Amino acid sequence: MSSALHIKDLVKQFATGKPAVDGVSFDVPAGEIVVLLGPSGCGKTTTLRCVAGLEHPTGGRISIGDRVVSEPQRGVLVSPRERDIGMVFQSYAVWPHMTVRQNVAYPLKHRRNGAGGNINSKVNETLALVGLRDYAERPVTSLSGGQMQRVALARSLVYRPQLLLLDEPLSNLDAKLRIRLRDELRRILKQTGMTGLYVTHDQAEAVVLGDRIGVMKDGKLLQMAAPDEIYNRPADHFVANFTGASNVLLGKVLACSGGKATIDLGAAGRMEAWTPQPLAAGDKARVALRAENIRLGERGPANVFAARVIERRYQGMQTLYDVELGGQRLEALELGTSARHQDGEIAVTLPPDTCWAYRDEGAIAD
Ligand SMILES: Nc1ncnc2c1ncn2[C@@H]1O[C@H](COP(=O)(O)OP(=O)(O)OP(=O)(O)O)[C@@H](O)[C@H]1O
Ligand SMILES: [Mg+2]
Repeated sequence: MSSALHIKDLVKQFATGKPAVDGVSFDVPAGEIVVLLGPSGCGKTTTLRCVAGLEHPTGGRISIGDRVVSEPQRGVLVSPRERDIGMVFQSYAVWPHMTVRQNVAYPLKHRRNGAGGNINSKVNETLALVGLRDYAERPVTSLSGGQMQRVALARSLVYRPQLLLLDEPLSNLDAKLRIRLRDELRRILKQTGMTGLYVTHDQAEAVVLGDRIGVMKDGKLLQMAAPDEIYNRPADHFVANFTGASNVLLGKVLACSGGKATIDLGAAGRMEAWTPQPLAAGDKARVALRAENIRLGERGPANVFAARVIERRYQGMQTLYDVELGGQRLEALELGTSARHQDGEIAVTLPPDTCWAYRDEGAIAD
């Protein structure tokens, strides 16, 4: 049976530097997959290793199911072996001198809780799950990278751990295989009802795999929410930017109430935007926008601006446009195999719901 994971105020401070994990709290309900997403060095692996027991946390509490496995304040620290966790890493951690079957059977023979039931049928069932039934008797070294990673996955699923931890398991694979295995991985995890914590810096992977996504930066969890909420209602400017809303318009808050702000963009005029923050009139604001949400050549009901196409880059399936709007630059993207707009004057609509305003606290470090 898979169990829920609870993390409360987790802190991990290494001997030097800032805390690698700095007060992180979240839950993974039983049967859910939570993805931690964030740039290199933000503390994803350290969080995962604390859950596995491979790292000793400095503070906070980690529980798996009803059992507290780490709480330094009370001197609780359950060893990795006692946590009933499966782990899959970036590198294919398989035994090179064994066949596929021997690799997958290994934990059943050597884990305390692995035994019981028919080993062969458990191995066969798990190999079928990862699509390697026909490869059972092959030496593992004769497999491709993607197949080896599936062996590693099978090996951590075969004893049905309470919780599966995955640290960038697809990042050593080529792009095409990565996409295929990503989709398969979701199916496999859902089929087994496994509770999973998955770490990646790849937003596409996070969206496909996660029931919820937690975006991390500098050891802190900025937002934990369903993928569509992360994508359409980013709680923080960094979250917006990291998940692809790379356009920024700078302005000043004129008014704000009930999650709606009016922003003075200077030469371009004023705009309406959604905001998760209680902004105050006079605050400096940055408005984040996705390139694909900018409507070129359209006069919508709100946020219509006179703009200018400066440059366009035709890419076959889509065209990118550099647009100037009252002295500020935007990149707009339109799908389709033909570029519809010419350089020069153009009307632009920025649908208010897709414009997200945040207090400007200086440059964003990313
Ligand atoms: N054993 C260690 N000793 C000291 N500092 C460490 C140690 N392990 C990690 N750190 C530091 O903790 C921070 C978080 O590292 P972590 O490996 O958790 O990042 P990450 O989000 O997994 O990054 P990546 O995407 O590059 O794998 C980094 O600043 C890193 O240098
Ligand atoms: Mg890492």
